[in-house]
Amino acid sequence: MNVLVFDTEEQIGIAAGYYMCGQVLQKPDSVLGLATGSSPIRAYKHMIQLYRQGAVDFSKVTTFNLDEYCRLDTHNENSYHTFMRRQLFDYVNIPEENIHFLNGNAADLEAECAAYEQKIRQAGGIDIQLLGIGSNGHIAFNEPADAFQRWSHVVALRESTIRDNSRFFNSEAEVPTHAVTMGIGSIMQAKRILIIALGEKKAKAIQQVIDGQVTPACPASILQFHTDVTLMLDKDAASLL
Ligand code: F6R
Repeated sequence: MNVLVFDTEEQIGIAAGYYMCGQVLQKPDSVLGLATGSSPIRAYKHMIQLYRQGAVDFSKVTTFNLDEYCRLDTHNENSYHTFMRRQLFDYVNIPEENIHFLNGNAADLEAECAAYEQKIRQAGGIDIQLLGIGSNGHIAFNEPADAFQRWSHVVALRESTIRDNSRFFNSEAEVPTHAVTMGIGSIMQAKRILIIALGEKKAKAIQQVIDGQVTPACPASILQFHTDVTLMLDKDAASLL
């Protein structure tokens, strides 16, 4: 694993932005796996800046997002569709038809998950997967469990996740109870992986990913078996290494 520790979040954003754009410069029709959450926001900002400077062209790029809530309108403030539009898609030239999300409103969610895996395969697989990590080691919506969930699947959100996420909604009752997510196998098949982790509350998970036992109790620990993982960390996230 390639572990890079930076002084500031801004530096991580710049480095991660270059890393993602470097992939696109090397292979203009790259397939990018993208994440929501606070960790990648600055990377997206710098990808937009590089695009505006004319340094990178996304017109041949294809994207697959990691996850989405179920039964939430895609235009809802809290949908991951909205997040991605606001943080990246509205400002770069990725063709609309090349942008892919799991459809959490599909009538048959199992079939939707199988079709998503198929679409990733048809696109030639993910060239680079950008990830955040939960303080409990979750990646995408793959929470600590007894076994690794291999492919895209439906997850029932935990009480604690619903409670945490309720701060973004008017009430707890409005928080979706389920989500659709890429699985651990879908993520592990990406050719390269870039993880961004910020803050002390990620330190334990990062320590486990780098030095700990590989266990579904810390889903991200499986990344030890991937041959091309780069971690971009701030000093707090790296404090237990
Ligand atoms: C986002 C995702 C989540 C986040 C993780 C970290 O699409 O799948 O696993 O990456 O919860 O979130 P932040 O970056 O907000 O700390």
